Amino acid sequence: MFQLLYKKNAIPLIAVFSDDFESWYERQEHLLKNWVTEQGFMAMESEYCVVPNKEGHVDVVLYGVRDKQSLRWVLSNLSTALPVADYCLMGEWSYDEKQALALGWALGQYSFDRFKENITPDFARLYVEDPLAVLAMADAIKRVRDLINTPANHMMPEHLSAYMKKLALSFDAQFSEVSGTELENNYPAIHAVGRASDHAPRLLRFEWGNTADPAICLVGKGVCFDTGGLDIKPSRFMRTMKKDMGGAAHVLGLASMVMANKLPVHLTVLIPAVDNAISGDAFRPGDIINTRLGKTVEIDNTDAEGRLVLCDALTEAAALQPELIIDFATLTGAARVALGTEVPVFFTNTTELSDCLKQASVDAEELIWELPLHKPYLNQLDSTVADIANSSPEGYGGAITAALFLNEFVPENIPWLHFDVMAWNTRHRSGRPIGGEAMGLFAVYTYLQDTYGS
Ligand code: BES
Ligand code: ZN
Ligand code: ZN
Repeated sequence: MFQLLYKKNAIPLIAVFSDDFESWYERQEHLLKNWVTEQGFMAMESEYCVVPNKEGHVDVVLYGVRDKQSLRWVLSNLSTALPVADYCLMGEWSYDEKQALALGWALGQYSFDRFKENITPDFARLYVEDPLAVLAMADAIKRVRDLINTPANHMMPEHLSAYMKKLALSFDAQFSEVSGTELENNYPAIHAVGRASDHAPRLLRFEWGNTADPAICLVGKGVCFDTGGLDIKPSRFMRTMKKDMGGAAHVLGLASMVMANKLPVHLTVLIPAVDNAISGDAFRPGDIINTRLGKTVEIDNTDAEGRLVLCDALTEAAALQPELIIDFATLTGAARVALGTEVPVFFTNTTELSDCLKQASVDAEELIWELPLHKPYLNQLDSTVADIANSSPEGYGGAITAALFLNEFVPENIPWLHFDVMAWNTRHRSGRPIGGEAMGLFAVYTYLQDTYGS
């Protein structure tokens, strides 16, 4: 997978800017002008034109670049569309620009074909100066997509555990997990959500890096399938719920970026892994459950399960007293109503983090958008019989109330970032097929690198 070329002996890829097309055209020789006109090439976004030489071999490839657009997805359709051969980038690109173009090229080769027979793809190869850096990013995104796309019958808590253990071992990280009565006694909310399933719930963990480096904790919602529980989801909403461990997939992808690039941090990854299933032992609406922090929660809706498994994991994260906690979760439909499926929502308890993430979003050319942790809405989660309810029948501002619920389990003095992501492409775009998707990771990784990178 992901073919990038290491040696330089390749067909040039030449960028033509859409805005500059006419003057570029006028500068070309007669032969090329005719060819370009006949091919209908206008240097629009995602447009390319293979130009043959006089022997009938590929001479150069022209591709359109819309002015000032993000370069990340510009070459995504080329690695599968071009004849299988070796290619190289021509022109005045900076190192970062070349890396962005190459990453798009690599990700254009992605498809989820684990369950398809006889797939032996052969891709065009791109020469890049620093392939390892590109491959580390491409590999992380592939991990996120593969984890999400893998159906729930192959991605239950035990499978997620095995995957995480393997990842940890490959980077010399320490893996551990808590399950059974130890989970029931110490992480009661995770246990309550997951106990109805034949696939036992657990809290997965790994730790990587030097303990003298700044401690960062990543927490990911690992609901391997979300039926909604007894508050069962209508089938059209349940259909894509294999993606409800998308938060876990995101933090594993992010962790792999951190580890592959040897960012000097002391990293802990926590994943509460459960199957929100239905059986005689399922938790019920009206139940009052305990949490690791000791706050009691009245279950208003068994479909608001993500915040329950996350609250115990966040309590655990806070106990480590890291300088930053980041969680990712496919937490609410309301976040998608607010910003649609393609813009990840984030919340934070720290103004400085908010400013830094907004800057990182611009630098990484990946849009993420903050919603407020508006405390007055917390009254929507008032319970007459427990410390807090897990949802409210009111239904407005659902992404905010979910974030406020989580905030109750994070001490004010620990900087915390919470991402509510779709983790799924509902339409195809260049390099981004329908299915599992990493969202917000470029922005967050850029922030981590700017803050902790040497
Ligand atoms: N996993 C869902 C949220 C979700 C649904 C994310 C669709 C992305 C796309 C979550 O567990 C859930 O069902 N949340 C409920 C909460 C409600 C019951 C308060 C929701 O958003 O409807
Ligand atoms: Zn749910
Ligand atoms: Zn869920």
